[in-house]
Amino acid sequence: MAPLLRLGVLVSGRGTNLQSIIDAIEQGKLKATIAVVISNVKDAPALDRATRHNIPALFVDPKGSKGKEEYDRELVRILKERGVELVILAGFMRIMTSLFIQSFPNRILNIHPALLPSFPGLKVQEAALKHAVKFSGATVHIVDEGVDTGPIVIQSVVPVLHDDTDESLAERILKEEHKIYPQAIQWFAQGRVRVEGRKVIIEGSKEPAYPVLFNPPLEIE
Ligand code: GRF
Repeated sequence: MAPLLRLGVLVSGRGTNLQSIIDAIEQGKLKATIAVVISNVKDAPALDRATRHNIPALFVDPKGSKGKEEYDRELVRILKERGVELVILAGFMRIMTSLFIQSFPNRILNIHPALLPSFPGLKVQEAALKHAVKFSGATVHIVDEGVDTGPIVIQSVVPVLHDDTDESLAERILKEEHKIYPQAIQWFAQGRVRVEGRKVIIEGSKEPAYPVLFNPPLEIE
């Protein structure tokens, strides 16, 4: 049996995406292993989730480093020491330095609760509702040196309803996040991901790779 892809998951908060990855691994759907979970927040619930599943969970205090680059150098050291091959940002509330990104070229994934390139950054649901878009969704992308700008691996679409609040929209999107993040990681675990410029090709996926997930009902003949 081929060795399992070694993941390093970086978290800052509640860790529901981390949980979806743990669950997919435990259910045998995702052929990977989480080598370490690291948080920049001491009491992040995500760390408890890892511990409950016997996954090494570390708090790395940003105050222990002089500046962003030194902090990222420490993260890289820990991740490399533990043989991490793919870095998973799962609600990690820091912008990675070039030093970090260049240490794992095309091997850092992030999940964002909107259909990028719409609504990058923070306060995403607020921005989507303010713009009154009809659809939003979730995006898994490879992390490059911009903020939420890297090549897109998978997206899932949800409708935006008239009476949505930030919370109701976030909840609808989160359900999709929990499906597409393990799927994206599994493609990496299978060695099926080829990156050509901005284009991410999943080898062996039939064209079109995705069925149309959501179409609005039309009322014209
Ligand atoms: C998610 O909404 C994700 O899209 C964003 O941060 C949030 C993390 O949630 N990047 P959780 O900690 O995984 O529950």
